[in-house]
Amino acid sequence: MDETQKQPTLVLMFGATGDLARRKLYQALYQLYKNNQEFAVIGLARRPHTHLSFRSLVSDSITPDEEHIGDFLNRFYYQPLDIEQPESFVSLKKLSDEIDIRYHLGGNRIFYLSLAPRFFTLAAQNLKRAGLTDTVGWKHLVIEKPFGHDLPSATKLNEDLLDVFDEKEIYRIDHYLGKEMVQNIEALRFANPIFESVWNHRHISNVQITSSETLGVGERANYYDQTGALLDMVQNHMMQMVALTAMEPPGRFDTEDIRDEKVKVFKSIRPMSAESISSQIVRGQYTSGVLSDGSVVKGYRDEDNIDSKSNTETFVAARFYIDNYRWSGVPFYVRTGKRMTAKSTEIVVQFKDIPKNPYFYHFEDVKPNLLVIHIQPDEGLSLKLNVKQFNETGNTMPISMKFSNNSGTSDYGAGAYVRLLSDCFKGDSTNFTRWDEVAYSWSLMDSIVAVWKENKVPLDFYEAGSMGPASSDQLLARDGFRWWPLTSTE
Ligand code: BG6
Repeated sequence: MDETQKQPTLVLMFGATGDLARRKLYQALYQLYKNNQEFAVIGLARRPHTHLSFRSLVSDSITPDEEHIGDFLNRFYYQPLDIEQPESFVSLKKLSDEIDIRYHLGGNRIFYLSLAPRFFTLAAQNLKRAGLTDTVGWKHLVIEKPFGHDLPSATKLNEDLLDVFDEKEIYRIDHYLGKEMVQNIEALRFANPIFESVWNHRHISNVQITSSETLGVGERANYYDQTGALLDMVQNHMMQMVALTAMEPPGRFDTEDIRDEKVKVFKSIRPMSAESISSQIVRGQYTSGVLSDGSVVKGYRDEDNIDSKSNTETFVAARFYIDNYRWSGVPFYVRTGKRMTAKSTEIVVQFKDIPKNPYFYHFEDVKPNLLVIHIQPDEGLSLKLNVKQFNETGNTMPISMKFSNNSGTSDYGAGAYVRLLSDCFKGDSTNFTRWDEVAYSWSLMDSIVAVWKENKVPLDFYEAGSMGPASSDQLLARDGFRWWPLTSTE
């Protein structure tokens, strides 16, 4: 797995002047540079830049804390490139070969596609035609989401990419897989017998996975209005968290064994009829409201560049069942949305209550035991237990044992890209999604979208700053459960 570790590499950064590169990728590369990863970068985008003006764009995108920033920046080169012009790729090959020799990069190449998805296929084809993928070193294609917009389009994209790259060379990014506490789920589960021994339908009553945001649609109106929360968040990030929480321990801790176990979870998700989609999946859209910082914000339909009659969902709450031996009958609830009360991602595992035998059981008001995995902004874990109050009443009270990595101050977003890019340099694709994971997830989403298209599921409105529409609470109430408050809003 580590055979390519710290090998010098040429990074061809498509979308080099774009938002993601400037917000996350250059800072991540700077971190890797400080960790002694050797590389040179060719920035590629349509707009004109010289090497120098591009270096100044990169410099403006990072927070330098060392003196050798100059050496770091000197490794950045720029070539204006129009994906639709194959000739641009011919000159790119020439520049790549030159830089390869200058820095002794051994022909190792990362092609990072931080591009509009409509260019993914053409970029790969033109790379091949110009001979850029015909290299003596290794080559990895890193591809940002969305990977297709439904199963047929994702399948087509995958086939196109497989004409140029092998599956093992394709690194499909799901940046949630780079988050510290998402990566920690396996350690928590498989390195702690007290959790693993009760991690099943006999002891767990339900699992709740929430990823809430306070931001609205921002400047991504065009993309978002055609995508919505289901495809933007559930298809990828939420389903990956479901898979990691539910999967069996892999036979060996290696890339393909772990991915195989995740795929088994996807395969076991109970298919849903039109009726169950209507009753188990809530779609919501925010109206105007007041956020927790007191700011008054517009409703989704009043946002710039959003159709005033748009029916796109900005919130989804769903109930899934995983029909295997471990999870039989345990609901997995997922919930995500924009303009909610807090920016927070958490996994709450609720344990079953102790049987209430009246002759034996005399404690009143006992709360369920909860294990909360705090993904962000806190990174940590809390365990909610009951103890006797420290008085004569004999009543119980809830307590919380908490571990926090105290990351309130750390930039959890950039950290994810450091880990993922580092894996990509090393040739470790464990924390990237394999094609079959993506395909199963799309097939589930397609079945939901098909029912939504027939207008069978109402769009429920929620006030900005709230935790979603009332129907989301009813979804759990019908099963005798409730959403546990996010730790950040308790
Ligand atoms: C992206 C979605 O994949 O994830 C965005 O496209 C969303 O709409 C973002 O805001 C959330 O990521 P994070 O790391 O801020 O939770």
